[in-house]
Amino acid sequence: MGDKGDQSLRFGVCYYPDQWPEERWLSDMQAMRKMGCTFFRWLEGSWTLIEPSEGRYDFTLVDRVLDCAADNGLQVMLGTPTYAAPSWLVESYPQAVAQREDGTPWYHGSRRCWDYTNADYRRCCRGVVEALAERYAHDTRICAWQVDNELWCHLGELWGAGVRQAFQEWLSQCYGSIDALNQAWGLVFWSRQMDGFEQVALPGPTPAYINHHQLADYRRFLADLGRSFLHEQVDILKRHGAQVPILHNCPFDPVDRKALLQGFDAYGHDHYPAFVPSAQRPAMGMNYGRFRAYAARLWVVEQQASQVGQTPYRRPVSAPGELALAALQSIAHGCNLLAWFRWRTFPAAQESNWGGLLPPWANDSRHLQEATSLVRSLQPHAERIAASVPQVSVARIAAFAQQVAATVEPWMAESIGSIEQGREALSALGLNENQIAASDLHNGYQVALLPYAVALQDDDITALEHFVRNGGCCVVGPLAGQRDSQLWQPTQHVPPGALAKLTGTRIDEATTMREEQRIHAIAGGPATSVGTWVEALAPVDEEVQVCARYASGWMAGRAAVTRRAYGAGMVVHVGCALSDSMLSWLWQHLPMPLPDQPIRVYASSAEVLVRESPRERLCFALNHGEGPVVFEVRRPMQDLITGEVLGGPFTLEARCWRILTEHIQVT
Ligand code: GAL
Repeated sequence: MGDKGDQSLRFGVCYYPDQWPEERWLSDMQAMRKMGCTFFRWLEGSWTLIEPSEGRYDFTLVDRVLDCAADNGLQVMLGTPTYAAPSWLVESYPQAVAQREDGTPWYHGSRRCWDYTNADYRRCCRGVVEALAERYAHDTRICAWQVDNELWCHLGELWGAGVRQAFQEWLSQCYGSIDALNQAWGLVFWSRQMDGFEQVALPGPTPAYINHHQLADYRRFLADLGRSFLHEQVDILKRHGAQVPILHNCPFDPVDRKALLQGFDAYGHDHYPAFVPSAQRPAMGMNYGRFRAYAARLWVVEQQASQVGQTPYRRPVSAPGELALAALQSIAHGCNLLAWFRWRTFPAAQESNWGGLLPPWANDSRHLQEATSLVRSLQPHAERIAASVPQVSVARIAAFAQQVAATVEPWMAESIGSIEQGREALSALGLNENQIAASDLHNGYQVALLPYAVALQDDDITALEHFVRNGGCCVVGPLAGQRDSQLWQPTQHVPPGALAKLTGTRIDEATTMREEQRIHAIAGGPATSVGTWVEALAPVDEEVQVCARYASGWMAGRAAVTRRAYGAGMVVHVGCALSDSMLSWLWQHLPMPLPDQPIRVYASSAEVLVRESPRERLCFALNHGEGPVVFEVRRPMQDLITGEVLGGPFTLEARCWRILTEHIQVT
């Protein structure tokens, strides 16, 4: 996380006053204040309200809302409303609506159906953002700006003639000449060489398989397009002198997270753990690691309030305790600002099944009470908590380059699994992770995991080497050196290529197997299943130790895991997926590093997350499960809320939590 830290915790809600009669605003806002809120988030879906017809702006209601908020001690996080455009825009500029692969347009009946290459849509977006910025950039009633909402949510691909032309222009900028493109995409194969960029097509459906270099460039192009769309709005706000933080929330793929967050003052997460069963919630919390390393501030601008549900589905309402646990998970992961989504359920339209803190018909609820009680418990300690940052000891090398590689050849995900695999094992070990580029590694991390050891550049290898030399532990996973940054296989070296400098190995064979393989530790012990992607490793340097061999299939006996001391650190080379079982195996059999962990828990639906300041360590013990769980306290710690001192084991009942603290001894 960046150094623009918040001084204290801030609580708020998402509130849409334009969806409620004005008579209700006052009591709603008073109730928010009573709950401990200092702001609400609004306007990201209200374009029609402020621009009822093209170029005619009306801020009467915005002004009244801002006045009412200020009178009641609340600030407003104001959204730019570009994800849900008005009907007049579609009527005037039908081409603004994105097309499907077959060239037919989507219908305009919900949201997020826009073609970002369309000049009219972009001009209208700039217009409404300019108008908002001109009027409110210096307004002290506003505490932050959110530009757009969840980029690429619902629709992560664009098609049609305008998109094709933009893709051609993007390629021409990247490659400079069509010959360079022909070369980069390997178009000598199947006689696909082109004479000019105007011949480039979008990677739409073809009878035989698509060229994956083309697909990769299409994803890079879309990521750039999305970033330019959002950054254009940031630039407008800054040009008009906006002083408060500007954020975007939870973009979907394709996104180059590092590039996107540059220029933003905060990242806003949308956190809805109700989408997964309680045993998966600790791993789901690691979604924070997708953005944390590159976020100047980490906030949660949509925090689950009760149940998730839309027209086609409805999940169970949060049981007592779940609301607080979900919020504490966000805070434990580093969020210092939290807004519950939403204040009150809207009784109609697509999200009437998505529960707010309040139902449409009441002014009190179990959820509101739970949120209030949490805010009151944390408020006395808000500055202490905000002064600390999450303890993150694992760097998952999963930058955009690796994500693209893992997406465009679908067999990889099938055989090797997700680039985010292994998070349940890490959580069980009490480890937290950030997803970063290898070139951003530093020795604040203890472990670098390369779940797809591909698409690495020279500076990535240099950073990995530096990291290990200075004491880091690098776990090189499958595919090492088997795809370069253009996703070509190597022609000049045997895999793992440049990584061999670290691993001291050669990959003799790499293949998918028909059956799951197993490995066993060299010193015996039970075998663990490794899935169907296997690589036979061969030590090249003398000091490389074979730690495990395949135990079944025709690879039986060949090396699956090796390790080697390197500088002050260690390199582990794993020839198969870095799955949950593989990571558990590594930490069980090898001297893998672990941070100082004053509390441990051994239950899949429970977790301990740690925030640290130079002075103290705050351990968030969270039991998401339906039964009691025992946590082991290894040295006396104090309960932040009650002041009680605990040592030895303690039990947390179903859906309960504690925050325990200790002073850090400065040596
Ligand atoms: C988010 C979105 C919100 C709202 C919420 C509930 O994904 O940003 O606008 O739709 O989900 O569905």
